Amino acid sequence: MSNFETVIFERRDGIAYVTLNRPQVLNVYNIQMRDELFQVLGAIKDDPEVLVAVFKGAGERGFCAGADLTEFLTAPSPTIARQVRWERDVWGLFLSVPQPVIAALHGYVLGSGVEVALCCDIRIASEGTQFGLPEVGLGIIPAAGATQTLSRAVGQAKALEMILTGRRIGVKEALDLRLINRVVPKDELLPTVEGMARQITLLDPMAVRNVKQAVVRGSDLPLPEGLSLEKRLASSLLQSRASVASQ
Ligand code: COA
Repeated sequence: MSNFETVIFERRDGIAYVTLNRPQVLNVYNIQMRDELFQVLGAIKDDPEVLVAVFKGAGERGFCAGADLTEFLTAPSPTIARQVRWERDVWGLFLSVPQPVIAALHGYVLGSGVEVALCCDIRIASEGTQFGLPEVGLGIIPAAGATQTLSRAVGQAKALEMILTGRRIGVKEALDLRLINRVVPKDELLPTVEGMARQITLLDPMAVRNVKQAVVRGSDLPLPEGLSLEKRLASSLLQSRASVASQ
């Protein structure tokens, strides 16, 4: 357990659990949550005993309904607020986590809620989950990565449609768009995600990290470079096996 206020951070049996924990305001993302997530992500990244991480939201009503609008409106100016946010590059850190990260999504997944989900590698949602990006309607743009991560997940045209219309979509459409991997009944959400995480803990940790790196980094590379990245990662895995076997 941790002493954070806006997130709960637990580590059990090789799995790190991160719970966004402001259920009274639908787990909206504020500066304190940013600072706490920054610490939590660093701790996950640096812990060789964490083999996989799970992100979820506290309470019945949603994973995260976006940025905390009360804080946003009291910030000195949107420009300064955004600059402060970027100086502590929580999203860059999130996307650099070497272990697989699974999101357990329910209820409202809006604004930075979608962006947190997009920083995760696998997204499982329960029935009734709603997704949307209301930022442009508020006169800002998504700045926690969604202009890049959403278009990589669903393609440019669909990403722009979601961002420009701000329309909320349900699980069927999210599944069709490949924004999420799977939909499960509400009471099966956490068991499904935990089951998947446990399976990953049974795999060779280096094989898991290398394959994540190959897929995630490779998808930003031209195919020949992606293939040579795969080759390097495959041989570094074999070499490390051989050196363990010879000891
Ligand atoms: N920032 C700050 N507080 C928020 C919030 C946000 N983005 N979203 C919800 N809350 C708070 C509400 O003020 C309310 O607090 P209160 O009980 O003290 O009044 C509580 O969370 C519950 O929200 P409420 O609006 O009463 O629930 P609802 O079921 O009627 O509506 C939403 C849910 C998500 C549709 C609605 O809260 C909403 O549209 N929120 C804004 C979402 C948004 O624009 N996010 C992106 C910002 S970039």
